[in-house]
Amino acid sequence: MGHVDGQMETFEQLTRDGRTERRVEDIYDLLTRDHRSMRRLFDQIEAIPEEAPLVRQQVYFVLRKAILDHAEAEEEVVYERLALAEDEELRDMIVEAREEHALIEFVIEEIDDIDPDDDVWSAKIKVLRDLVERHIDDEEALQLPAMRRELAEDENEELAAIFVACKDELAEYDD
Ligand SMILES: [Fe+2]
Repeated sequence: MGHVDGQMETFEQLTRDGRTERRVEDIYDLLTRDHRSMRRLFDQIEAIPEEAPLVRQQVYFVLRKAILDHAEAEEEVVYERLALAEDEELRDMIVEAREEHALIEFVIEEIDDIDPDDDVWSAKIKVLRDLVERHIDDEEALQLPAMRRELAEDENEELAAIFVACKDELAEYDD
């Protein structure tokens, strides 16, 4: 979002000695920003009354695309690289993360077949939220720190550039 094709965003960052410096976004910034926007979208859906199912569904469609595009880019760019990690524990995390993505996609397919004014629709959204939040919490707590140890600084920025390009491409298509 807000990206020109493949172009990286920079932002001011406070350094340890209190100076500010401009820094190119790395892959950790991009992943955690996507996670934040998914959490926000779940909050938005829950804030809309159940009496307005079509409005809830409209926000859900935005979330649905955000989840699927994020997961696909993450698999193609990040997981592909981490599958080659030195750290065996990290490689195992990636196997598990791919399985979690598959489960998340399965629940999304189920939601696709349900009417938004059906009670089951809201129940499945809650199940989806639990799955997605647990997955991204684990990713932030375990996988990203292991990834920082694994990858060199320039690789972090390189992966970020490929991740942005991949998401820009996916943004053009309906899932
Ligand atoms: Fe993920």
